[in-house]
Amino acid sequence: MARKKIALIGAGNIGGELAAQIARKELGDVVLFDIPPKEGMTKGKALDIMQDGAIHGFDCKITGSSSWADCAGADILIITAGVPRKPGQSRDDLIGINLPIVRDVAKNAKEHCPNAIAIVVSNPLDVMVYELKKVTGWGRERVIGMAGILDTARFSMFVAEAAGVSVKDVRTMVLGGHGDQMVPLVSCTTIYGTDVDEYVPRAKLDEIVKRTANGGGEIVKLMGTSAYYAPASAAVQMAEAIFKDSKRVLPCSVELGGEYGGDYAGLFLGVPVILGAGGVEKVLELPLSDGEKELMAKSAKAVREVVEVADRM
Ligand code: NAI
Repeated sequence: MARKKIALIGAGNIGGELAAQIARKELGDVVLFDIPPKEGMTKGKALDIMQDGAIHGFDCKITGSSSWADCAGADILIITAGVPRKPGQSRDDLIGINLPIVRDVAKNAKEHCPNAIAIVVSNPLDVMVYELKKVTGWGRERVIGMAGILDTARFSMFVAEAAGVSVKDVRTMVLGGHGDQMVPLVSCTTIYGTDVDEYVPRAKLDEIVKRTANGGGEIVKLMGTSAYYAPASAAVQMAEAIFKDSKRVLPCSVELGGEYGGDYAGLFLGVPVILGAGGVEKVLELPLSDGEKELMAKSAKAVREVVEVADRM
C-alpha cells in the first residue's frame, strides 16, 4: 500500500514547520514546493528534515522541488504560498500580492493534483480559499481554509492562563472571518464542561476576546512577520483528521450554502465542521444568540467586501 502524499505549496516559515511536524507524525511523504528561485531552499529544508528522521526515527520521504510535476498524485495540498504580514499591515493588505499567487497555485493544482483535498492557509484567508475554489471548480467538501483552529487555540490559551487551569481542559470556539471582526464565542467556552464565568470575571473575558481577535497582529508586531508554529500545527490537525477519518469537530473556513440563516451563500466563513476522509463531511450549525448573529453578520460583511475586491481584480 502506498504512503499518503502531502504537497506543501510554499516552503517558507509555515511550510518548513509543516514538513517537520508531518514527518514526526509520519502522516505521509512530503513534497516541499516553492518557486524556482527558492528551489535550493526547498531541497535544503527537505534534507535537513530527512536527517532529523535519524534522530526522531521516522521513515517518511521529504523532497524539495520547484516542479509541479513532483506534486502529482498528492492526497492533500497545504497552501501557504504568498507573503505574510509586516507590522502595521492588515491581512486584507496582502490581497494585491497574494491573489495572483493563489490563482497560479489553483491553476496548477487543478492540472497536476486533480483529486487532492486543499487546505488553504495564505491570507487574507477567507478570500484566498474562495479564490482557490473558484479557479479549481472543486466541491466545497475539499477546499478548506485554516484559521478557526488557530484563533480557537489563541482564545483557549488566554482563557487557560486567566483561569489558572491546563489548556487541555479548556474548550472554546471562534466563528466568522479570519480578521479583526472574528467572533470568539464566550457562550461556547467551558472548562471541562463547566461555565467559564465560574473561573474568569466577565471584564477579563471581554479583554481576552479582544486579544484573541488581535492575536495574529500581536505576534506580527513582536516578530516582524506572521506566526508559524501554531498555524502549522492547526493545518496538520486538519490533515490528520482527514487521513485518519477521525470525524473531528473543528472550526474551519468553508463555503456556506444555506447555513446560519443569513445571506451567506457562496461566502467562506469559519464555522464548526466534521472533518473526515471525505474532507468537510458536515457543516454544523450552532444556535447563536441575537448578539452573536449580529457579530457574525458584521464579520461576514467584512469578508464579502474583500471578496468583491478580488472579483474585480
Ligand atoms: P513565508 O514568506 O515564510 O513563506 C511563503 C512562501 O511562499 C515563500 O517561500 C514564497 O517564495 C512562497 N511562494 C510565493 N509564491 C509562490 C508560488 N506561486 N508557488 C509556491 N510558493 C510560492 O510566509 P509564511 O510565514 O509561511 O506565511 C504564509 C502565508 O500564510 C502568508 O500569507 C500568511 O499571511 C499566512 N498565514 C495565515 C494564517 C492563518 O491563520 N490562515 C496564520 C499565519 C500566516
